[in-house]
Amino acid sequence: MSTAPLIELRGVKKSFGEAIVLDGIDLDVAEGETFVLLGTSGSGKTVLMKHLEGLLRPDAGTVRVGGHELSAGDPRELDAVRREVGVQFQSGALFDSLSVFDNVAFPLRELRHLKEDEVKARVDELLALLGLTDAQKLLPGPLSGGMRKRVAFARAVALRPRLLLADEPTAGLDPMTTAAVDDAIVLAQKKLGVTAFVITHDLPTAFRIADRVGLLHEGRIIEAAPPEVFRRSAHPAVRRFLKDWLEREEAARA
Ligand SMILES: Nc1ncnc2c1ncn2[C@@H]1O[C@H](COP(=O)(O)OP(=O)(O)OP(=O)(O)O)[C@@H](O)[C@H]1O
Ligand SMILES: [Mg+2]
Repeated sequence: MSTAPLIELRGVKKSFGEAIVLDGIDLDVAEGETFVLLGTSGSGKTVLMKHLEGLLRPDAGTVRVGGHELSAGDPRELDAVRREVGVQFQSGALFDSLSVFDNVAFPLRELRHLKEDEVKARVDELLALLGLTDAQKLLPGPLSGGMRKRVAFARAVALRPRLLLADEPTAGLDPMTTAAVDDAIVLAQKKLGVTAFVITHDLPTAFRIADRVGLLHEGRIIEAAPPEVFRRSAHPAVRRFLKDWLEREEAARA
């Protein structure tokens, strides 16, 4: 049995004024897959992700998420998709006056109007999965960067979205903390069966969490392959991206 891809992009183009940002994006992401998008700063990764939440509409081409056609801007289709998508924002965007528990419970109370015992059951499960049980009563302020990222992730998946969108979920963390957050995310994501579309600058993260890694370059996804295949890609832009990353790492270590 074959199922339709959860994300289907065909010939997606987007310009701002004279600047062509997306120049014909074709991409399928299967249900349950973790797709990681790489690309240099300003290459259009966030712009592409915004099309998946219906925050931007393409100039040309089609965007389908969960069978819903977003490109036409039909409000009913947009609503239907937004109910199925969880977003982990780059900043985390936690509510600083709410405890860790209440941050994760927030979408369940506001959007699902669940009974408090159901809220508690679901939040307890997520906090345990992400190693946050002991922190549940704390306010986000004093938490470490890695903990904040895990809280943001827990909140993004609290509604059990079919699709998780994460823009730089580990940005600004040191390598050890990044690895710990990656592991927590992979574990939770596999356990919850959510499809994930993740943007990152961090190659180790990409190779650790991805089923497939893609590179956005000059408005197109010029390579999309499992990590071990991506690593060996002969595409000049992939070679350059990998080489630049290694050089930056070496410079940072020196
Ligand atoms: N609303 C907008 N209006 C005009 N230009 C925009 C808009 N949004 C994005 N851009 C431009 O589109 C290009 C791609 O931006 P985008 O934010 O997608 O890059 P990115 O790959 O996410 O970069 P980074 O890795 O730094 O986050 C940039 O040149 C940006 O200035
Ligand atoms: Mg971005």
